[in-house]
Amino acid sequence: MGLKIQEKRVVRVTEEFVRNYFERESSGHDWWHIFRVRNLALKIAELEGGDLFLIEVAALLHDLDDWKLNKGSEESKIKKWLTSIGVSKEKTTEIIHIVGQVSFKGAGVETRATSIEAQIVQDADRLDAIGAIGIARTFAYGGNRGRLIYHPDSKPEMHSSFEEYKKTTAPTINHFYEKLLLLKDRMNTETAKKLAEKRHSFMEVFLKQFFDEWESKS
Ligand code: NI
Repeated sequence: MGLKIQEKRVVRVTEEFVRNYFERESSGHDWWHIFRVRNLALKIAELEGGDLFLIEVAALLHDLDDWKLNKGSEESKIKKWLTSIGVSKEKTTEIIHIVGQVSFKGAGVETRATSIEAQIVQDADRLDAIGAIGIARTFAYGGNRGRLIYHPDSKPEMHSSFEEYKKTTAPTINHFYEKLLLLKDRMNTETAKKLAEKRHSFMEVFLKQFFDEWESKS
């Protein structure tokens, strides 16, 4: 089997697997989030370069081992899956390495993506966390975790460790200040920086309107 055909097969079966896996996920990390991140990552890659196969597979699998969705699961599901469909050890390691660099771990916690592939998947995942879709996903996630929309006495916190960030039960509006509004300046690629601008300003407009309504000004 030629390499390209083999790669196409891996992408196709992985897509099917992930789609089934996340079909009923209601925390904003559903299949359509993965779908958008994959498409956005490939779009960024058109302009920025990188290995398209690694980018596509890593984007499809990027939430499979995520700490937010997996409580106490030690074994890498990504490794298990890629091994089961015959992906080489080297490629599997590369994909796991890319995915490992994607997740946001707190406002004051440095998560640097080193390869172009990791930078692109991280940018795509972060772009899907901001803008109109980001707002929708954030409230879906908050609701899924039983959080309030907003509480006037609860102020945003800049988490300096991943442990603190993981534990937070703060209202959803705080999340805009603790994460979402910071993402624009943490994009890796020029293409993503440009895409982030519009999404960022949309969130600012949303928050202004939210607080105007909260204070009966609007
Ligand atoms: Ni994600």
